[in-house]
Amino acid sequence: MAVVTLNVVRGDAESGASLEKFEVPFRDGMSLLDAIFWIREHKDPSFSVRYSCRSANACKECSAFVDGKPGYLCSIRAVPDSEVKIEPLTGRPWIKDLATALE
Ligand code: FES
Repeated sequence: MAVVTLNVVRGDAESGASLEKFEVPFRDGMSLLDAIFWIREHKDPSFSVRYSCRSANACKECSAFVDGKPGYLCSIRAVPDSEVKIEPLTGRPWIKDLATALE
């Protein structure tokens, strides 16, 4: 079965940041936000990520750095058998994991 490997910044301002690796079963059309939902459902329900529209690319709440470039997790498609690094945006107060304060 194809997987997508996510290396994700976890933690908060108090405890500090660390990188955690998750292997997520790939399915056609899956976004990186879908992959994070899978992690929340199957591995760690405490995983924090901000989102609202989930796919319309309208709310901009799922912004993050993906392999060092800013983007929207709900509109970036997962690639089977690939590995990506996902980090919270900088320049905003960091809340937890991928969640930052809204501007
Ligand atoms: S969840 Fe709204 S733009 Fe991604």
